[in-house]
Amino acid sequence: MDETRRARRSVVTGAGSGLGRAIAERLAGADDQVIGTVRSPERAAALSEKAREAGLRLRFVPLELGALEQVRATARALEAEGGVDLLVHNAGFGLFGAIEQTDDGSVAHQFAVNLFGPLELTRLLLPGLRARRGRVIWIGSLAGRLSLPFQAHYSATKAAIASVSDAMRLELAPLGVAVTCVEPGDFSTGFTDARQRAGADDPLYRERIERCLQAVEQQERDGAQPALVARAVEKLSRLKSPPARYPVGRWANTLCLLHRLLPDAVRESVVRRLYRV
Ligand SMILES: NC(=O)c1ccc[n+]([C@@H]2O[C@H](COP(=O)([O-])OP(=O)(O)OC[C@H]3O[C@@H](n4cnc5c(N)ncnc54)[C@H](OP(=O)(O)O)[C@@H]3O)[C@@H](O)[C@H]2O)c1
Repeated sequence: MDETRRARRSVVTGAGSGLGRAIAERLAGADDQVIGTVRSPERAAALSEKAREAGLRLRFVPLELGALEQVRATARALEAEGGVDLLVHNAGFGLFGAIEQTDDGSVAHQFAVNLFGPLELTRLLLPGLRARRGRVIWIGSLAGRLSLPFQAHYSATKAAIASVSDAMRLELAPLGVAVTCVEPGDFSTGFTDARQRAGADDPLYRERIERCLQAVEQQERDGAQPALVARAVEKLSRLKSPPARYPVGRWANTLCLLHRLLPDAVRESVVRRLYRV
């Protein structure tokens, strides 16, 4: 890999736990000046203090991605400080339930947090990113390639992220901004407990939903450690020409290959078995 190390101002959203925390700490450990976001202002202050005590160049600012005014204020503050070199869109959550039973408010919130907030943040940080010839890394998901049962809306946000990332690469490469999308498989983080359930307790779906949720949770709890994603993000962040998509995690590359090669019926039967639906 072509490594070009230099001090950078890096923003990592959702840096208070899981993958985001590992990414923020890894970048700070590599001498980046890191700004992490968490939702609660009190947690932001406490985490900043802890990082200061640990001697890390890592501070936290509060950001609720579902609130566009907050997103805009955060972007304005970052731009006023001189802009950023690296923007890692990591924050997100999963919504679980049958499409038929998921109300429009839950759907809107899923898209607001995983996609619309990050898009607005990107848009407003682009002047600084262009000036610094910076880069954007999206944390997508393998669910963005292989749409998952009872996680339709989550999968759709991750497919949209990958699609946005691909288009951004084409728009921004001539302007000096590199963009890439990291696609994690299963990782053991707070994501599993933070998952939101949608829908009524309808006997039409109940049994399959419960079986599927059990399988999903088990796979995540047995998943890989966040350090693997942090290492990948740091490596990608230093490449002159990062790849468009970067699957990471156990079986991630094999799953992508099978997804490309298998006929629909075979692929769907594998997914049905894996998720017990
Ligand atoms: N774990 C996996 O198996 C897996 C697999 C593929 C992709 N991913 C993706 O990886 C990313 C990180 O997830 P994780 O596994 O590290 O889960 P996590 O431990 O639950 O971390 C999620 C982070 O997102 C932040 N967040 C959630 N809702 C938010 C909102 N409304 N506004 C602002 N921030 C919000 C949380 O902030 P607070 O600290 O304030 O709660 C938290 O720091 C997500 O985008 C997820 O989709 C995870």
